Amino acid sequence: MPDPAPDTTPATSLDLRERAARGLEASRVRTLGLTDLDEKELTAQHSPLMSPLVWDLAHIGQQEDLWLLRGGRTEAQGLLPARIEKLYDAFEHPRATRVGLPLLTPREARSYLADVRGRVLDGLEAAAVDDAEALFAFAMVEQHEQQHVETMLATHQLRDGTPLLGSGAPLPPGRPLPADAVHVPAGPFVLGVDGTAEPDSLDNERPAHVVDLPAFSIARRPVTNAEWAAFMAAGGYDDPAWWSERGWAHRLEAGLERPQFWSPDGSRRRFGVVEDVPPDEPVQHVCFFEAEAYAAWAGARLPTEQEWEKACVWDPALGRRRRWPWGDSEWTPALANLGGDALRPAPVGAYPAGASAYGVEQMIGEVWEWTTSGFEPWPGFAPMLYADYSAPFFGGDYRVLRGGSWAVGGASIRPSFRNWDHPQRRQIFSGLRLAWDGV
Ligand SMILES: [Fe+2]
Repeated sequence: MPDPAPDTTPATSLDLRERAARGLEASRVRTLGLTDLDEKELTAQHSPLMSPLVWDLAHIGQQEDLWLLRGGRTEAQGLLPARIEKLYDAFEHPRATRVGLPLLTPREARSYLADVRGRVLDGLEAAAVDDAEALFAFAMVEQHEQQHVETMLATHQLRDGTPLLGSGAPLPPGRPLPADAVHVPAGPFVLGVDGTAEPDSLDNERPAHVVDLPAFSIARRPVTNAEWAAFMAAGGYDDPAWWSERGWAHRLEAGLERPQFWSPDGSRRRFGVVEDVPPDEPVQHVCFFEAEAYAAWAGARLPTEQEWEKACVWDPALGRRRRWPWGDSEWTPALANLGGDALRPAPVGAYPAGASAYGVEQMIGEVWEWTTSGFEPWPGFAPMLYADYSAPFFGGDYRVLRGGSWAVGGASIRPSFRNWDHPQRRQIFSGLRLAWDGV
């Protein structure tokens, strides 16, 4: 099997512990930034799809307490009384019901978070570790917090009222980029990763294994708002010919007519700011059923997640994976739109330096890209420390999304990262990229 690991100087134990601490700190800055709001905003339920923000806040602390102070032993006493801690069990309490629970107040939640974090950092300083695998739990908890930051951004997006977050940081300009297809010849590649190459990878991304794919083509860039508007203007939402049977039933029942947060007058609402829909930005807030219908109308289909990953990381000249589409170097803001500060996707063509070996652009960041794949384990799957992270969801009514969105931060995205959600979801930052069989 080709070696997917880049050449790196071995990190020292101190480097690794500093990296873990920095990752935790970066996620906390984002959490506190999104929850620096008055009590009313934090305790309100802005949508039945989402928790009140104060639930996310305390749940972040509860998970850190469980995994980093108690090694995942639920029977061990945490910093909260057991009856309170149970309120933050995501499996026990569906999002719609959380607003009715006797939750910690915002002040109590912040104090709990700070208390847990202080103890975690003390423990990290004293830890004797010499490899990144030993610090996996820290990376896992950092990613958990970053995932909740993205969830909290979705809550902010669903919230009515005056803007609280501004309109977002500047992004690089786009450039004209043809809506063409990039050909990926038939042949084997390495799908997934191992912990040695990607110590922060989660259980469902592992292990690395060879997969042989038939030839396919994939779009150089994601589908844009202008292209989506053309689908609407052509009556795409009114013609069942483009929709799967289940998708059409959902389109009728949910009354879908345009992406979520778009208005009939051609404007959209983004974090409380009403603005014209920018034509050259990747479309977001579409569900799987809409994405599937658009692809059919465009004479294409959605990619499988295997196709997506090959187009993203396989280097056919060297016969090995890259760590990122652009190579093995770490992410910088010149390579992809990540981190959440922009509060929106970048226009197409904004990241020529971020192209994959095949020439596919903007695969990392921008919008989560729907694939046709259900969520299933890779052969040889083994559950990680947080055993219920993936396994309970395999085989459920989900579609896998790839690549991360502009809202993703820190260590929470890799080309092997697999997100999954129900096919009708669209409050997430989801869009699409087209694919075709063969040439
Ligand atoms: Fe969680």
